[in-house]
Amino acid sequence: MPDIPSASIVRLSLQALESYCGQFADTMIIMLDETIKIVHVNTRFLKETGYAESDLLERPLHTITDGAVQWTDPDVMFETIVSRLQRPVNEGIPLQLNTVEGHRIFATASPIIVQTEQGIRCLLFLYGHNDMRSGNLIERFGETMLRDEHIGVILLQPESLKILDISPLACQLLGVEQSAVVNVELSSFFAEAEKEYAIICEALASGEKVRNYPLTWRYEDKQSELLMDVGLLHSAIFAREGAYIIFKDVTNLRSLETQVQRSDRLAMIGQIAAGAAHEIRNPLTAIRGFLQMFRKTMIEHNMNKEKEYTDIMLGELDRINHLVGEFLLLSKPKQMTTSWIGVESVLRDIMPVVSSEALLHNVTVNWDDQMELPRVLADGEMLKQVFLNLCKNGIEAMTEGGTLTVRGSVLQLGKSSRIVIEIQDTGPGIPLDLINKIFDPFVTTKQNGTGLGLSVCQRILHDFGGTISATSRDKGALFTVMLPC
Ligand SMILES: Nc1ncnc2c1ncn2[C@@H]1O[C@H](COP(=O)(O)OP(=O)(O)OP(=O)(O)O)[C@@H](O)[C@H]1O
Ligand SMILES: [Mg+2]
Repeated sequence: MPDIPSASIVRLSLQALESYCGQFADTMIIMLDETIKIVHVNTRFLKETGYAESDLLERPLHTITDGAVQWTDPDVMFETIVSRLQRPVNEGIPLQLNTVEGHRIFATASPIIVQTEQGIRCLLFLYGHNDMRSGNLIERFGETMLRDEHIGVILLQPESLKILDISPLACQLLGVEQSAVVNVELSSFFAEAEKEYAIICEALASGEKVRNYPLTWRYEDKQSELLMDVGLLHSAIFAREGAYIIFKDVTNLRSLETQVQRSDRLAMIGQIAAGAAHEIRNPLTAIRGFLQMFRKTMIEHNMNKEKEYTDIMLGELDRINHLVGEFLLLSKPKQMTTSWIGVESVLRDIMPVVSSEALLHNVTVNWDDQMELPRVLADGEMLKQVFLNLCKNGIEAMTEGGTLTVRGSVLQLGKSSRIVIEIQDTGPGIPLDLINKIFDPFVTTKQNGTGLGLSVCQRILHDFGGTISATSRDKGALFTVMLPC
């Protein structure tokens, strides 16, 4: 037992000591015995550090401290304390505490040595101190995180859930103005995303972090795929000084993922369709042949009514044949004859057909017949089918008439470039819940549609290294085709 000058010792019964400690509800207090084992902690200490009392009792102090002051030898500890107590101004002793979650609390320990009926006790009153490392946590976090261009950050007051600050990228991703959301409660901002709001509240109440929670955020006609992190900011003396929500934009990654899934699904459907299509086509050829023979005989015998029936049957057979043809194209494209071709000449070839269809539907076609684009390596006939399908869809969507615009441009992507063909209509647009599905086979909203048009387009473009995407605004749909050039 170290030799402690009696002037440095207070004499109190344990009971009186504990009731004395009870008066400091806002201060963290820890009591040590002569061997530097923890024998008592107050509620504030438990709350700030996250330990249970049973975790700490009988535990050596150094197992929860870090930094310069690490007391393992009672002589050293009491010497340090006594020398501090003998100074005219008690400066306190800097102490770093480790919380249950592995955070650090930078505190100043103000010690008292007490003689009780059970022996010497050392009482440490712990206060936050002005160490630069603790500073204003929210400010420090904000300075680094809010400036990061790659993540969207919202800083929150953890109790009221008011937004303290929001980074420019978060504003852009979520479609809000910074001035409109700062000081606003998160609940009003997340009004449309109840589930996510509940997850945030739960995380902040329990202190459990949320990592990479996937969510789809929609505003106006835009949709972003995000990953969300939620957590509390722990400061030196307060367990929860702030809270953060971090958003990472994974929209591009997700669309790549769905494209891969779609390609896989297309390949599977294709295999099934190819088998079925061949089996259908062969008997069709026989039926068609014999029907044509009947037709001839009927004409010879002036059986006009019967001839009309065979005409209808032949027409219907052609429809089946066409459908089967599309099936086959979906599964295994017909022998491709690729060459370097000008897309403008492909468009020029289909424009007469498009224009006559447009005329029927009271639609104006707007396109620059003088446009010149770099050549692409593709099959011209197949590209015709792509653009015909897209123009046909646009015209069919504009039941009340409108304008179909076809534009061409070149996009430079690093060292490679793409030609971009945009086909835009002024129809009703595509509902948000449908837009992700329209490239899937058999998805149609039309009474006589097959729902194969767009999946065939996607299949063809995929084979030439191209892509197709759709966006929809108030005033119609926009299909964008890109091909490497
Ligand atoms: N320009 C557009 N405007 C609005 N909706 C569209 C447009 N283009 C496609 N769609 C929607 O996408 C669905 C699928 O189109 P897709 O071309 O694959 O098949 P379809 O047009 O229904 O049938 P088919 O092409 O065999 O006539 C359409 O039924 C329609 O609901
Ligand atoms: Mg179509």
